[in-house]
Amino acid sequence: MSYGEQIPVRSRREIDIMREAGRHVAEILLVLREQAKPGVKTIEFHRAAAAMIEERGLVSSFVGYGPGGLPPYPSTICISVNEEIVHGIPGSRELEKGDILSLDFGIMSEGFHGDSALTVPIGEVTEQAEILIDVTRECLYLGIEQMVPGNRLSDIGHAVETRAKAGGYSVVRQFVGHGIGKNLHEPPQIPNYGRPGRGPRLLPGMVFAIEPMVNVGTDKVRMLEDEWTAVTADGELSAHFEHTVLITEDGPEILTHVEGSH
Ligand code: MF3
Ligand code: CO
Repeated sequence: MSYGEQIPVRSRREIDIMREAGRHVAEILLVLREQAKPGVKTIEFHRAAAAMIEERGLVSSFVGYGPGGLPPYPSTICISVNEEIVHGIPGSRELEKGDILSLDFGIMSEGFHGDSALTVPIGEVTEQAEILIDVTRECLYLGIEQMVPGNRLSDIGHAVETRAKAGGYSVVRQFVGHGIGKNLHEPPQIPNYGRPGRGPRLLPGMVFAIEPMVNVGTDKVRMLEDEWTAVTADGELSAHFEHTVLITEDGPEILTHVEGSH
C-alpha cells in the first residue's frame, strides 16, 4: 500500500463541483435501480445510463478507461451478477429472479468525478443473499463513519473488515477503494481490511470512494477472459456497495446520496 503520496485537499470551489457530480450519480443510480427486475438484459442499464449522461451533458467516467494495459472499458456502467464481484460488462444476459445485481456507476461533471455502487436483489432471493447485501451496506457505512478529521486512513478498512468477519464473510483484497477528484482513481488506495491507526491522518477536504466487496466464501478472485470481470474463485456470492464521500470538519458528507439512495 502506498501511504507516502500526497492526498489532495479540495478547495471550496472544487467541493461544490464534486457535490454536483455526486448528485448526478445518485439521481441516475436511483432510476437504474428501479429497472432492476427479472427479464431485463444487463445491456439495458448501459443504454439507460448513456441516455441520462447525454441528457445531463455529463461525461462517462468508465467508457474507455483502461489503466495498466487493460483493454478500454467498453461501457458506462459495471454490472456484476451473483459470483461476479466487480467490473462485469453489460451484455445480453437476462436477470433472473433470485439473482443479486451490483450496479456501479460514475460520471465526470465540470472536470470532477463521482463514483457509486449498490447491490440489489432481483425479485425474491435467498435469505443468505439478503443478509450478505445488508451486511455489505453496513460495512460501507461503518467505513464511512470513520471518515472524521484526525482519524487515520486504515481506520476505514479496519471497520469494514471487522464487520464483514463478524458475519462470517470475507472481504476482497485484490480491489480497493480510492481517492477521487480530477481522476476516477487517485491516491490513496483504501483497502477494505487492515489494522487500525495506520497511514496518513484524515483532513477536511479529502474525498474518497469507499467500496467494500464482501464474499460469502473465499476472498480469492478469478478474472474472466474479457480481462475486466472479477469473479469469486469459489463461485460463491459477492456483494458491493460504494459511495463518494467528503471529509468535513463535522465528519463525513456522502456526495453520492440523495433521498432514497442506498
Ligand atoms: N467503482 C469502480 C472502481 O472504482 C469503477 C470501475 S470503472 C471501470 O473500480 F471503468 F474501470 F470499470
Ligand atoms: Co470506485
